[in-house]
Amino acid sequence: MPRTEFISTGFYVPERVVRNEEFTQWMDTSDEWIRTRTGITERRWVADGQTGSDLAYQASQLALERAGMKAADLDCIIYCTLSPDYFFPGTGVFLQRQLGVPEIPCLDVRNQCTGFLYGLSIADAWIRTGQYKRILLVGSEVHSTGMDLTTRGRDLSVLFGDGAGVAILGPTTDEKRGVLSTHIYADGRYAELLFSESPASAHNPRISHADLDAGKQYAHMQGKEVFKHASTRMPQSVKLALESNGLTPQDIKLLIPHQANLRISEMVQKLLGLRDDQLYNNIQRYGNTTAGSIPIALDECVQAGRLQRGDLLVLAAFGSGFTWGSAAVRW
Ligand code: ACO
Repeated sequence: MPRTEFISTGFYVPERVVRNEEFTQWMDTSDEWIRTRTGITERRWVADGQTGSDLAYQASQLALERAGMKAADLDCIIYCTLSPDYFFPGTGVFLQRQLGVPEIPCLDVRNQCTGFLYGLSIADAWIRTGQYKRILLVGSEVHSTGMDLTTRGRDLSVLFGDGAGVAILGPTTDEKRGVLSTHIYADGRYAELLFSESPASAHNPRISHADLDAGKQYAHMQGKEVFKHASTRMPQSVKLALESNGLTPQDIKLLIPHQANLRISEMVQKLLGLRDDQLYNNIQRYGNTTAGSIPIALDECVQAGRLQRGDLLVLAAFGSGFTWGSAAVRW
């Protein structure tokens, strides 16, 4: 059975840079609060009319070019997002249309910050079994159109940014390389702790004027609880990925944790006993781009030459659901 290799990667973030200071014109906050509590100094926001699938298209073009491939060479799209362009159809089809590859299957994955790892797990299974040979795996988000930019929403609105990252995956017969294992989990008992309540088919109407007045169109989060679970589940899932391959934290060349809060990453690093050079963070520049965060960081690392053939790469994420997981990859 072949293994799954990363053929190429790419990312795209919108041009508009929103620095922490900008938020002070809308709400009671400060650059100091945001930086010290989260590590974030700036994030990107889309222009009017720019969608998640537009961001994904730019990132995909780059990855295709780097792979020396045409869109027509793809045989499947897996599109991970918590901020779909529309309620339905899924966003993968809008990307497929822009890429001009009708008929290939498009699967939308809705697992929030763990989306890219859920998507990788599916892609890996399909590639190993030979069902598909060239999968475009996408993580793309537009958060900025759903932010409560008043003091009421300050705990969430300062955290998130827009952006897309992609990977093109395919089979390799090199036994020393490729995805070693993926590990994905969920616990729905905590679903409402990080939650977007409306609009939803659970209510009739899906959103009312009263809901809008109450700000129910905005996500809400019990930050401390989420923080607590994230900083235990992420190191736990990294350990699991290592143990199931007979590896230890010392073997890690690069750990890319989902970028939710720099303090969570620091906690993960400490609990695993990793050196600074074994871990990558870019939340400072992009905020939390949810399903986009791992592939954006991965592409930055690839372009910076931080991964060489055979290096051990570990990916880990935690997010709304709760969902969490990890993956171990020989680059
Ligand atoms: N500016 C200024 N003050 C603020 C802001 C802000 N932007 N946001 C909140 N505060 C205030 C709060 O209102 C609170 O005030 P109070 O004490 O008067 O009530 C105070 O700051 C402290 O708030 P805490 O919640 O204690 O702040 P904390 O140190 O926990 O940091 C944070 C909050 C950054 C949200 C943190 O809890 C966190 O990162 N949580 C986890 C996020 C995460 O991992 N999410 C998962 C992935 S996201 C996904 O899946 C979509």
